Amino acid sequence: MKWDAELYDSKHGFVAEYGKGLMEFVPSDASSILDLGCGTGTLTEQLQQEHGGPTHRVLGVDSSPEMVKAARRDHPKCAFDVADATHLPYDHEWNVVFSNAVFHWIPDHVALLRSVHHALVSDGTGRLVCEFGAAGNIQIIETALNEALHDDLGIDRGERFNFPAATLFASNLVACGFVCDEVYEYERPTPLSDGWEGLREWILQFCEADFEPLSAEQRDAVLTDVERSVCGDLWDSENQRWVADYRRLRAVATAV
Ligand SMILES: C[S@@+](CC[C@H](N)C(=O)[O-])C[C@H]1O[C@@H](n2cnc3c(N)ncnc32)[C@H](O)[C@@H]1O
Repeated sequence: MKWDAELYDSKHGFVAEYGKGLMEFVPSDASSILDLGCGTGTLTEQLQQEHGGPTHRVLGVDSSPEMVKAARRDHPKCAFDVADATHLPYDHEWNVVFSNAVFHWIPDHVALLRSVHHALVSDGTGRLVCEFGAAGNIQIIETALNEALHDDLGIDRGERFNFPAATLFASNLVACGFVCDEVYEYERPTPLSDGWEGLREWILQFCEADFEPLSAEQRDAVLTDVERSVCGDLWDSENQRWVADYRRLRAVATAV
């Protein structure tokens, strides 16, 4: 995944314009941290550097065996396992579950939050620290993509992501046994790399399933239509780059 360096801080991970980086919500004395949906392990390694040590345990898990393989290759000093967030194999053993850019891929947030609650310690101190797409995330891009697929090819794309409002996510947290410490949405316009090519590269990566069945010509036609529709809103001509219309939901909650 390509992220713009301006929004990525090597110490704190993804830096929100709203304020503090997500990692600052991880208590400094946390002795065990599960990085849920670790991908290729970049943030797991940062958690390990900040919180790891002889008596501290940091583990990255991801449902994709390919991601875990890449994480083990790229970060040989960190520990990784394959695990599905909705069926975590842990019985009240983690002080912190940390998760960045994962929950919007998971349709059932109640199953997810029950699983996370069961993985956290049961003494009233276990903490979930997470950030993912909020309601309205990439709405301009998704609307243009839905229209292009429909108008060019007669394809109805449907819902691909789970981007909840903070109020809904907070009520799910409470229903699953958490107390909400912080739950809020914020705008995080995110510059993409690679100039004009950046938007189509991003769409092909994040909406891979929509493009798999299409021929090269069909892909190009749809992507060209999307670029034409969104360039008034998302093309930053001064810096010659696309700026994706991200909205994030950040939540910090304690398992009680
Ligand atoms: C956008 S990446 C984020 C990676 C990493 N957290 C980061 O911030 O760099 C999303 C990751 O979530 C993982 N994922 C999606 N659904 C999952 C699930 N049900 N359980 C565990 N991981 C999941 C994907 O395999 C992918 O590696």
